[in-house]
Amino acid sequence: MAIFFHWDEASTELWQAAFKEAGIEADLRSADNLGNVEDIEYAIVWAAPHGLMGTFPNLKYIFSVGAGVTHITADPDAPLHVPIVRLQDDMLVLDMSCHIIHWVLHFHRYYYRYRQYEADKTWLRHRYPDNSDKRVAIMGLGQTGQDACRRLHDLGFDVTGWARSPKEIPGVRCLHGEDQFAELLAGADILVNLLPLTPQTENILNAQTLAQMPDGAFVINCSRGASINDADLLAALDSGKIEAAALDVFRTEPLPQDDPYWEHPNVFVTPHAAAPSNERSAAGFIVGNIKKCLDGGVPAPIVDLDRGY
Ligand code: GLV
Repeated sequence: MAIFFHWDEASTELWQAAFKEAGIEADLRSADNLGNVEDIEYAIVWAAPHGLMGTFPNLKYIFSVGAGVTHITADPDAPLHVPIVRLQDDMLVLDMSCHIIHWVLHFHRYYYRYRQYEADKTWLRHRYPDNSDKRVAIMGLGQTGQDACRRLHDLGFDVTGWARSPKEIPGVRCLHGEDQFAELLAGADILVNLLPLTPQTENILNAQTLAQMPDGAFVINCSRGASINDADLLAALDSGKIEAAALDVFRTEPLPQDDPYWEHPNVFVTPHAAAPSNERSAAGFIVGNIKKCLDGGVPAPIVDLDRGY
């Protein structure tokens, strides 16, 4: 059984070994070694070259090696009638929470100012509010959003989550739906975006929504760049409405050389590094799912493209 495999950062040996261990004979095909495309039944991909997967007539499932799937749906010729299975990985969830906690603390404790003070040899300490007086708002309450909420709550922060549909997380105020979005924004001293990218969430952070946040608030984006209207965020940063932003994801990646985010003093750029998929655990999850298919089962979780996850 042939599998199209495309993940630039991955070692094929590790995957071969994982299939072998599961007792599956897998013929891994790469973009430059497709062989007879009629043999290809599964695809395991991160940002595969556009146009390829649409030419596999017998493709049964596409496995994303990331939690997000816009790297697949961005291909105008992607065979979207084929179910897409996204990665669900506890390690990725933990890594994402660590990234978020890092930036929440960085902003809450004013660490972002101390770098400059050090350069100026200035000994100046800022007092910061109690954690319980800092309102952290999380947009998106999937597995990662819920985990981040719980951990920030455990650190004593005043946490509110927001999702499309009602959710319950002990100790965390959960809002939902368009009607309660304004309430979330009004109480977002630090706003974290974890929403999947859909037509509804594209540019969800824009001049109008940023204006509803408290003055001097912070934005942490670790979902998809296109959730933010970049010109509007830059204007809000310039005016001081938004004090600083930690951006891990961008509309165009790698971030183009002439992008103003690079040089903005209050923007912290990381290269889509918040929660890189771990090859070993991704292989365990996906090989397990393919085994399920071979045994006549259905893999999970299958993405609902309207919801984006
Ligand atoms: C990363 O962006 C992912 O989708 O896992």
